[in-house]
Amino acid sequence: MTKEIKLSSRAERPWWRDAVTYQIYIRSFSDSDGDGIGDIEGIRSRLPYLKALGIDAIWITPWYPSPQIDHGYDVADFLDIEPDYGTLDDAKRLIKETHEHGIRILLDIVPNHSSDKHAWFEAALQAAPGSKERDRYLFRDGKGEHGELAPNNWEAVFGGPAWKRIVEKDGTPGQWYLHLFAAEQPDFNWENSEVRAYFEKVLKFWLDLGIDGFRIDVAHGMVKAAGLPDVVADNPHAEMLARAARPYWDQDGVHEIFRSWRRILDSYSGDRMAVAEAWVSPPSRLALYVRPDELANSFNFDFLGSPWEPTTLKKMINRSMDALVDVGAPTSWVFNNHDVVRSVDRFDLGLIAGRANTTSERQGDASKLDIPRGTKRARAGALLMLALPGGAYVYQGEELALPEVRDIPEDRLTDPRWQMSNHTDRGRDGCRVPLPWQATPAGAFGFSAVPSLTPSEAWLPQSPWWGSYAVDIQEDNSHSTLNMYRAALKIRHDEVGLGDGPMSWIETEESVLAFSRPGQFACYLNFGLPITLPMNAKVLLSSGPLDGVEIPTDTAVWLRLSDN
Ligand code: NOJ
Repeated sequence: MTKEIKLSSRAERPWWRDAVTYQIYIRSFSDSDGDGIGDIEGIRSRLPYLKALGIDAIWITPWYPSPQIDHGYDVADFLDIEPDYGTLDDAKRLIKETHEHGIRILLDIVPNHSSDKHAWFEAALQAAPGSKERDRYLFRDGKGEHGELAPNNWEAVFGGPAWKRIVEKDGTPGQWYLHLFAAEQPDFNWENSEVRAYFEKVLKFWLDLGIDGFRIDVAHGMVKAAGLPDVVADNPHAEMLARAARPYWDQDGVHEIFRSWRRILDSYSGDRMAVAEAWVSPPSRLALYVRPDELANSFNFDFLGSPWEPTTLKKMINRSMDALVDVGAPTSWVFNNHDVVRSVDRFDLGLIAGRANTTSERQGDASKLDIPRGTKRARAGALLMLALPGGAYVYQGEELALPEVRDIPEDRLTDPRWQMSNHTDRGRDGCRVPLPWQATPAGAFGFSAVPSLTPSEAWLPQSPWWGSYAVDIQEDNSHSTLNMYRAALKIRHDEVGLGDGPMSWIETEESVLAFSRPGQFACYLNFGLPITLPMNAKVLLSSGPLDGVEIPTDTAVWLRLSDN
């Protein structure tokens, strides 16, 4: 049983306690100019779609100038826009029009590292060891007689060592720099006051343009343990969610940074906020990021690490909510993002995201995949997520029940994981294929406004079957996943008891998750044999067809319970 929280009405509390935020992976959302790459004008043209979907906010993945080694998470200039995506004027217009549609807008900020093409890093390469230019990053002398060994045993998240040795200006082998991700993503030194001041300037620059907040990339990685000690573990491989403590994740020093960021956010009107991408465990550690003077939200990644199984899911839900109650923060549920295999596949195959180092660990066994069953589960999971207390983050294409794309030809794979894992892990491209807006192939299934663009010319190729998931056919089908999301989000807005606030578990079969929310609202999700609907309950929405008064397996229903 979870503890009860007393909360004000939805209109009185900050919007981010209840919001459903839609993640836009900008390269793959909508392309206005026919280059096969999504852009800002593409997003602008789809604002009516987002409005009709019923989400409260959008989060746009990094749109800054970038060599795109890690598709924008390698930022060369934090104060401008990537030319492939548009201009600062386009960004200003998008911010204004998004607000006119009644939607908030969050930007991705990447403070753990920059691109190696950032002016600061280029200056650091030209400068001498010990210089102020080098001190903005984590340069160290190597070990061994000639400095030929990496400074410690840390490994990069994408595979291989987390250190790269440079050649000094005079042509001699030189110092090493830390990169927790790709070698083209050098880590900043957050002990350096210039780095801190720079990011404060960056935050203010975008807040002044009217954005509502930030998603903070690798928020748990910015501060490293003093002295950069070796990882002491059998397997020093870096995972975003390390099972054991790591000297580069979740160091207490990050909290002081977030307190200073919160002060900046609070100095603006309109409940500006930040959400942390902090892959930390257990939830009591996550709670530290959302203390009242720190960040508003922190993604709750537990659902990415859960199989499709009621006992585990219930435990995770309770654990997450209990941990956050003490700091008064809302939970932020996540089923999908641009880093993990899509939930249709994950829930069918029982995959645990975030712990993959090979393609088979990441994608599971394709021969066992049953997409209709995975779709049923993903739809039921969506109704669970949207009925739970707090906010939710929906990744583009989740509302279309897109499955993972497993047939991208190897020579078209772009994720740095593919190269850095020596071709053992295909990486994350399978959840990033450009969205199908139309069933017909013209304009890469409508992804592009230019009809001559073919599906294979999109930056990641779209397979011939992709059009069967298109928005236009789902709009015309009252049973489609798109229409289920629209209906769910409408009910969620109208129901005063949904969003943040209390919930109570309902005692029922072990194979069922059932809980109520204020206003006689209930959600039942059945994992087992068919069960009978509660007496006199009115069905508000279901994730799949009901069998008379029975809820079939892998189906969720939203109900209005009756007193008698
Ligand atoms: C987390 C982002 O979600 C991921 O896409 C990126 O590769 C890493 N951080 C590095 O920035």
